[in-house]
Amino acid sequence: MPAETMEALQLRSGDSVIDATAGMGGHSRLLSAAVGPSGHVYACDIDPESLVMAEANCAGSESPITFLHTPFSRLQETLQAAKVGLADALLADFGTSMMHFQTGERGFSLMNDGPLDMRLDRTSDNPTAADLVNSLQEKELANLIYTTGERRSRAIARALVRARPVTSMEQFSSVILAAVPRTGKLHPATLACLALRIACNNEYQEIDALINQLPSLVRPGGRVCVITFHSGEDLVAKTGTRRIAKEGKAKLINKHVLIPTPEEVRRNKASRSAKMRVLEML
Ligand SMILES: C[S@@+](CC[C@H](N)C(=O)[O-])C[C@H]1O[C@@H](n2cnc3c(N)ncnc32)[C@H](O)[C@@H]1O
Repeated sequence: MPAETMEALQLRSGDSVIDATAGMGGHSRLLSAAVGPSGHVYACDIDPESLVMAEANCAGSESPITFLHTPFSRLQETLQAAKVGLADALLADFGTSMMHFQTGERGFSLMNDGPLDMRLDRTSDNPTAADLVNSLQEKELANLIYTTGERRSRAIARALVRARPVTSMEQFSSVILAAVPRTGKLHPATLACLALRIACNNEYQEIDALINQLPSLVRPGGRVCVITFHSGEDLVAKTGTRRIAKEGKAKLINKHVLIPTPEEVRRNKASRSAKMRVLEML
């Protein structure tokens, strides 16, 4: 939703803006064009490998861009250490990027074999998806998988525990495929895969931590735009943004979430579940 995002952020020439999820740098480039040579973009990401690509993709951008390796939970601390004051705006486009799914060795995609990793930051001490699958008790694993609404979580956990050690994405998906029937278009391992990704990266705690820091990151009157891609993520964003609004720290700009136009969904199928929330800091 690039056009909607840029409109919502109301950037002016000379503004400083935080891109909390630099990814491949697509949004960072647009932000840079909007703030121009006298502005500044702070392009942040938890994934150092994404930042290398974002930096290459943003070469020749209009404004200076500073690339910072940081999880949301340490954003304020990282920006303070870089002597960055309150920004005029912030964008967070949650989740994973196409690069994560297309790179088999990152272990995110059922379509690309690789080690069962799923950590957004491979330099972190976080457990990999394989660590969780191979160490949790069967009931804990079933409960974790159930958090995404996967009703066959017990059968999936039982099959994974019997197949231990599970080390690759190919093995993970074929064990699940053999244990539970395919219904509809979705691969039966899809929700289990999402549950592991969310757990490995503490995704919900991270989103909540980002929302809590917003008053210390963006000046009063500055805009914040958050984009989510699945219902669990969106619930955390909805609850967090409503909470800071109720505390008088921000104002919700739209009564309802913004969603992509049918034309954008036609052009980019991956955008179909995107939901955007806009805030103005008080
Ligand atoms: C959907 S992609 C962003 C795509 C980006 N807007 C672009 O135009 O290329 C989400 C990005 O958020 C990053 N991310 C996810 N969780 C994070 C966290 N807790 N802290 C910082 N970055 C995070 C991921 O590494 C990924 O690069």
